[in-house]
Amino acid sequence: MQLSEGNISLRRLRENDAARMARLANNEKISRNLRDGFPHPYTLADAITFINNCRDQDPLTTFAIEYQGEYVGNIGIFPGQDVYRKSAEIGYFIGEPYWNKGIVTTALNLITDYCFRELDLIRLFTGVFEYNTASMRVLEKCGFEKDCVFKKSVFKQEKIWDEVRFSKIHPDYLD
Ligand SMILES: CC(C)(COP(=O)(O)OP(=O)(O)OC[C@H]1O[C@@H](n2cnc3c(N)ncnc32)[C@H](O)[C@@H]1OP(=O)(O)O)[C@@H](O)C(=O)NCCC(=O)NCCS
Repeated sequence: MQLSEGNISLRRLRENDAARMARLANNEKISRNLRDGFPHPYTLADAITFINNCRDQDPLTTFAIEYQGEYVGNIGIFPGQDVYRKSAEIGYFIGEPYWNKGIVTTALNLITDYCFRELDLIRLFTGVFEYNTASMRVLEKCGFEKDCVFKKSVFKQEKIWDEVRFSKIHPDYLD
């Protein structure tokens, strides 16, 4: 299973992505924007564990992002449960050498189409720490809307921050 647009593809993670994943993920400029479950330093063992945990996904919900045929990062969704089972949280990162080339904007559009078309999801959402203007810009470019601010909800880097929540609704369900 592969989703593609131009020189950007989303595909299942492979065991041999682990070395590049660990190298690119081991960057505080990345981990500072993510939950503490994304560790710093980020080791080869962390990458192997992550890839192994995704191995049996069906349907596929965690993708490697490829740019010009090379692994550059991950994008994935976490579907909700119970009454939230038509919603999913979305998360992503790419390695710093690949920032500001439009890669995650394309990847987010690809996974959004897949979620609405193949997974029968109605709402995608994410929370962005208040200082992550690049991620907010990506979400806006992909048609996500700002829902609200969870004030003082994040403790990161020994400080308290606001989290800005964004969502996108399946077009058939817009009022
Ligand atoms: C945030 C991130 C996903 C963006 O990925 P990307 O592929 O570089 O994004 P794109 O190139 O598609 O778009 C980036 C946009 O942000 C803008 N941008 C970048 N840095 C910015 C900054 N400091 N202030 C304002 N805008 C900024 C770019 O100019 C671009 O907008 P434009 O097309 O209007 O010029 C990437 O930097 C990353 O992986 N960061 C670390 C992990 C992370 O933050 N994950 C998301 C957690 S919510």
